[in-house]
Amino acid sequence: MDAFSFYNPTKLIFGQGKTDTLSDELVIYDRNVLVVYGGGSIKKNGLYDSVMLQLEAAGCNVYELSGVEPNPRLDTVRKGIDICKESGIGFILAVGGGSVIDATKAIAVGARYNGDIWDIITKQEIATDAVPFGTILTLAATGSEMNSGSVITNWETHQKLGWGSVLSFPHFSILDPVNTVSVPKDQTVYGIVDMMTHVLEAYFHPAENTPLQDRMCESILQTVMETGPELLDDLKNLDHRETIMYCGTMALNGITQMGARGDWGTHNLEHAVSAVSDIPHAGGLAILFPHWMQYSIDVNVKRGAQLAERVFGVEREGREDKDVALEGIDRLAEFWRGIGAPTRLADYEIGEDQIEEIADIACERGIFGNYQKLDKDDVMYILQESL
Ligand code: NZQ
Ligand code: ZN
Repeated sequence: MDAFSFYNPTKLIFGQGKTDTLSDELVIYDRNVLVVYGGGSIKKNGLYDSVMLQLEAAGCNVYELSGVEPNPRLDTVRKGIDICKESGIGFILAVGGGSVIDATKAIAVGARYNGDIWDIITKQEIATDAVPFGTILTLAATGSEMNSGSVITNWETHQKLGWGSVLSFPHFSILDPVNTVSVPKDQTVYGIVDMMTHVLEAYFHPAENTPLQDRMCESILQTVMETGPELLDDLKNLDHRETIMYCGTMALNGITQMGARGDWGTHNLEHAVSAVSDIPHAGGLAILFPHWMQYSIDVNVKRGAQLAERVFGVEREGREDKDVALEGIDRLAEFWRGIGAPTRLADYEIGEDQIEEIADIACERGIFGNYQKLDKDDVMYILQESL
């Protein structure tokens, strides 16, 4: 495995009913609080009221930024930064899914930066300070609640870019499965696909001798594949919500990538698709990932066969590794199709006329992918196969 250092300062507060402990967490932070949330789901399910009561009880002056979009936009981040600067905000609370949390990370850093936050997102400048922030997660999917990553879309330039900093980890995250019970079926499917792809991105790495990393990845995938369909049949089941929530966090909090850096090319490609057509992140991933796996099969056919055997139960005895690996990819695609994930770019009305623009955006920063290097021709092929 590769040498590594690991840093993750986020305090996790996990479990049913843990939302009620918010006021305990708030005591050490500034009283001027900005609450960031999305398009209104937290008002419908009652979480907004519960959060506001606790902020009031803690004596906070509350400011609000609502309307953070799925695939959060730079304009909205800038609005949040303006509120922070004008009102002397000393603590930010994100209440929502990955989009709300990602926007909050950019607001937190942007509020303590004199220039435009886009400089930091585009990596021309480095964050040197941030307003502390915590999160209450409402959707199990991205892992943003326990990592430093943030993905922001600039609609003017059609760029959807990921960035991160040691300063963009949440100080705490409350993971109360009760808050995910209202997530509708389609978003639950997207969450399942997203967390699985985070593990798969990690699994396809160029390092050698990673038996524990492999087993950790495989166990997360197996758990999601066992519990996901049961949850989709019973969306209010708190035990299943809890399991899936824990899987989503473990899939992308850095632990699976200790000593082995994953590929992440498909995520880069999906971000380019979303930058051209505002589709759900995991919808794009469900379409692209099996095609990326097929395209990359020869990079390390043993690794693909290992995944197929251990996670998808493919019979290996007496067969070529490549056959086994290919059957594993089919079973993955079949699993996603079976839970209702999209299978073709056409499902989002993305046609052949758009793929060159997508490929150009994906390749803007040059060749990408840590396991399989992709250039524009490779990307065009994968997109063509995904139509
Ligand atoms: O906006 P509201 O009204 O809250 O509704 C949201 C939104 O419409 C709804 N929702 C969330 N919690 C709910 C709920 N509806 C009912 N009940 C609840 N409890 O779900 C919709 C989608 O929410 P969103 O936050 O956009 O979803 P997700 O968590 O999947 O986040 C997607 C974003 O995260 C980025 C993606 O690119 C995308 O922009 N990613 C962030 C990563 C990271 N920071 O590490 C990694 C990921 O790979 C990903 O790229
Ligand atoms: Zn993702």
